[in-house]
Amino acid sequence: MRVVSRFEELATEGREVGLVPTMGYLHEGHLSLIERAAECEAVVVSIFVNPLQFGPGEDLGDYPRDFERDLELAEQAGADVIFAPSAEEMYPEPLLTRVSIPDLSHQMEGRMRPGHFDGVATVVTKLLAGIRPRRAYFGRKDAQQLAVVGRLVKDLSFPVTIVGCPIVRDQDGLALSSRNRRLGGKERAAAAVIFKALQAAGKAVIGGEREAGVLCQLVSDSLGAAPLLKPDYVELVDATSLQPLVELDRPSFLAVAVNAGGVRLLDNIHFFVEGEMIDLGRVLSRPSILGAA
Ligand code: PAJ
Repeated sequence: MRVVSRFEELATEGREVGLVPTMGYLHEGHLSLIERAAECEAVVVSIFVNPLQFGPGEDLGDYPRDFERDLELAEQAGADVIFAPSAEEMYPEPLLTRVSIPDLSHQMEGRMRPGHFDGVATVVTKLLAGIRPRRAYFGRKDAQQLAVVGRLVKDLSFPVTIVGCPIVRDQDGLALSSRNRRLGGKERAAAAVIFKALQAAGKAVIGGEREAGVLCQLVSDSLGAAPLLKPDYVELVDATSLQPLVELDRPSFLAVAVNAGGVRLLDNIHFFVEGEMIDLGRVLSRPSILGAA
């Protein structure tokens, strides 16, 4: 495995590249993307904590970092190249160009984090332009981000296929996130309710329920049973336009964001053709490398 820090060093001898963009502090969610990308001739994993997508007062300064550990994990998972640019390499001059998709950026996460998706869209555009992968892999955990990236590659004609991958969950069902380590013991235990609430929605859909209001209420009621969790939103939206749905009649996801003692947790359940296929992701059979559940 090679470790490079400049776009110019990234020549992969014409091989078809699979790109896995990350901000590091890797866990099994990231590793699942790297393993999936092994279907490409060469796997490039980018590690860059992108200042552009953090708002003032957000956790840029104390975003977890462990580069040596990331290298080891990425190599084991099948990475051929780690691209770890400095902020100067990524942004040598103040950026005058921004990539912005307002229609997909103001709802849900965007409501709480103004400017966040512009920062994501801009850095992903730079990575796609600089690395020129054939395929790029993103987790469904960040479903709004996946919609933003899907749209920008269409609008800007990037010759890349965006591959959405299932959510990887800790043994109790909590979606893996580097932010989980900030949860206090009680909040960590309570957070398992999120998965149960989404499972309840999944069961209702399997039982024939299609009304968005009923499904969202079911999830809100389950979350309400855990007083340590403060739901921010529960919404069923079209998976590509992110428009709220009245009825589950197309590819969509039901997204939740909760605040657990100051830590923001995101999760969702994906529905494919008219709710007949459901994706809640995969639960680990042993404790996550992020720490036991
Ligand atoms: P980061 O949070 O490091 O996530 C990198 C990729 O891993 C994203 O595509 C994310 O959806 C995926 N991922 C995270 N947790 C996951 C889980 N539990 N299961 C499956 N996939 C998971 O997302 C970002 O970085 C940044 O915004 C980035 C796209 C790199 C741009 O800076």
